[in-house]
Amino acid sequence: MRIDVLTLFPGAIEPFFGASIIGRAQAAGLVTVRCTNIRDYATDSHRSVDDRPFGGGPGMVMMCPVVFDAVEHVESLDTRSATRILLTPQGEPFNQAVARELAGRQRLLLICGHYEGFDERIREGLRPREISVGDYVLSGGEAAAMVVVDAVVRLLPGAVGDEESIESESFSEGLLEYPQYTRPREYRGLTVPEVLLSGDHARIARWRMEQALKRTRQRRPDLYERLQSTRPDLLTSADEGSAS
Ligand code: ADE
Repeated sequence: MRIDVLTLFPGAIEPFFGASIIGRAQAAGLVTVRCTNIRDYATDSHRSVDDRPFGGGPGMVMMCPVVFDAVEHVESLDTRSATRILLTPQGEPFNQAVARELAGRQRLLLICGHYEGFDERIREGLRPREISVGDYVLSGGEAAAMVVVDAVVRLLPGAVGDEESIESESFSEGLLEYPQYTRPREYRGLTVPEVLLSGDHARIARWRMEQALKRTRQRRPDLYERLQSTRPDLLTSADEGSAS
């Protein structure tokens, strides 16, 4: 997979893509992440990328020519066609299902905005998919792009060492994760649930499912309600123990 990120602040996000799981996935050849500075496509002496809005009003608006030129040039660097993504609070909500869908693409091109917004013709002319990472306004799309790239790359086969850990993670089946513990067995009077030390794998699996269901019901009733139609089997088999 190839991922291009178009941004005005490549230096702010490049180190993130070189670290941890994304860095390892790049080193292993599973993905290439490239950042491109949109300002490199400015043509005037001030290297302008934004201007005041027609009709007046506060703030500045990202201009069409630099964004179109950056997108078209970066796309020409590879023969695979790219899924264009514009990061914006007006986009469709990003979630695990969208991450899974994007992880199946050969190439992604993420466009990060800054200032008050994009000239509307960027949407009309480039027809990107628009994605929001949450109902809040960031100063730019960079943090959102890091969220999307991270969630997508860790789904690529081989990116996360233990494939099972992806399977059991929060949201892989619409459930929050069960509580985890490691050494020491006791710390400042806080202990590890006895069942996890029992060696009884069936009992441990049952306890974990009960805990996951309990957490989901308490913290995310919206997800829990959805399980009633998507995974009724989970609710009948293990949920009795999670009611308390
Ligand atoms: N840019 C600014 N805010 C954003 C958000 N919530 N999601 C995606 N991109 C953004």
